[in-house]
Amino acid sequence: MFLIVLLLLLCSTILITISAFSWRSHGQWKAFRLPQGDMGWPVLGETLPFLKPHPSTSIGDFMEQRTSKYGTIFLSNLLGKPTVVSTDAELNRFILQNDSRLFEPGWSRSIVEVLGKHSILFQVGDAHKKMRSINLNFVNNAKLKTPFLRDAYRIAAFVMSSWKNKSVVLGKYEATKLTFNMMAKNILSMEPGTPATENLRKEYEAFAKGVVSLPLNLPRTAYSKALKARAYILKVVWQCMEERLCRKKDREEEDAKDDLLQWTLENSNYSEEQIGDLILGTFFGGYNTTSKAIALAIYFLGGCPKAVEHLREEHVRIIQGKRQGGNSELSWDDYKQMEFTQCVINETLRLGNIVPYIQRKASTHIKFKGYDIPQGCYVMAVLPAVHLDPSLFEFPEQFNPWRWQSDYGMKKTKNFMAFGGGARLCPGAELGRMEMAVFLHHLVINFNWELAEPDLPMAFPSLDFPKGLPIKVRLLSNAQLAM
Ligand code: HEM
Repeated sequence: MFLIVLLLLLCSTILITISAFSWRSHGQWKAFRLPQGDMGWPVLGETLPFLKPHPSTSIGDFMEQRTSKYGTIFLSNLLGKPTVVSTDAELNRFILQNDSRLFEPGWSRSIVEVLGKHSILFQVGDAHKKMRSINLNFVNNAKLKTPFLRDAYRIAAFVMSSWKNKSVVLGKYEATKLTFNMMAKNILSMEPGTPATENLRKEYEAFAKGVVSLPLNLPRTAYSKALKARAYILKVVWQCMEERLCRKKDREEEDAKDDLLQWTLENSNYSEEQIGDLILGTFFGGYNTTSKAIALAIYFLGGCPKAVEHLREEHVRIIQGKRQGGNSELSWDDYKQMEFTQCVINETLRLGNIVPYIQRKASTHIKFKGYDIPQGCYVMAVLPAVHLDPSLFEFPEQFNPWRWQSDYGMKKTKNFMAFGGGARLCPGAELGRMEMAVFLHHLVINFNWELAEPDLPMAFPSLDFPKGLPIKVRLLSNAQLAM
């Protein structure tokens, strides 16, 4: 009993101290014209209602209620920080386009702890440019056109060949098999499907669940599991590094691997910690987002037979063109012909909203639409609010890939923020699109599918299908079976 009282006293002292601090810093800004809003509870602020799960095809009650009460730019206290929240397309674009000039990364401490302080997301200036150039080199055009496209084609075919004798598969896991194995092979030269690769995949699942979660480092919380997974993943990376360095000493150069780890070891002067965070982050960015994008496409297309038909026509046409040429695997030219597929991808990312927000900190005093954003203030660009704005996308709740076909549709790309923008625009955007296109290629030419039981994409803690997206699959009588 005494211990409990002592613990409570300790907790309340910490709470009061921290909240006094955060309110004082908010008080410094009294001279400014801040957006309206509610700071919620001390310390917790409005974090709990903000993190409440909701369908990822909506902005959720929290954003809905605050926006209708205070407007598209409002003040809140989220993840331990007073934050200007933007559901405004113009301010979101302004934030993304002015990264490093007016804004710097402003991710919460809990996210920094999980991803590591050397992660590219937290680098600024030259350090950011240097790490970004490593990422850009990793996904350069030459690599996309050959090893990545070839691996995507073969792994997707392999994944779907296992569906032939199944009636129900979990779309979420099937998508991960492609994207995770792609990253494992090209980052650490780990072979698809081996026990070591599978173990790493499981750890990454725990890691992904905890990145955006309530930052409580208590037993069995998503956050503490993510921290444990981080430690495991780093151990694997550092073991690989050690093996490579030993091999170099033994001059076994003919065995040198052609992957991101090797390239970084040979072309950077990064420390062990920096390499660990770089590899961990690229892996995470590269598999987690794309697997969700593929699962979302399976889900949306399952509810839109007309789009499947249109997509199938496009892919059958490409295959027929190839038969005359002889080679059955997809080439980059084939990929570039997939125009409607790109519309499906845009629409999937718009409506599915994989990345719910981007956090930054004002590095100087900013005035926007009559509001002050003081130096040091945190800002949150809520991307789904733009994608689901009816004044920007007609009937935004509908899955309508055709909206991207018309000239009018193309003009809307400035309101398409799925890959972020500006100096931090996703370097893996084309790789992600290509993996989605190749997966859809095998899917539509070989299978019909429908949801085996109701499921839907939920936002927060991170985008997920609670039931794993169970789909009934049926092999087409005229399946192309390039598997
Ligand atoms: C559909 C798939 C993808 C989506 C929706 C997506 C989304 C995003 C977004 C929104 C950002 C900007 C974050 C910010 O501004 O703070 C970003 C950055 C990043 N993405 Fe992706 N991504 C995808 C695929 C990939 C792939 C395949 C890779 C693998 C190489 C990757 C690696 C990265 C990296 C390294 C960054 C940090 C860039 C920087 O800070 O300069 N992403 N991604």
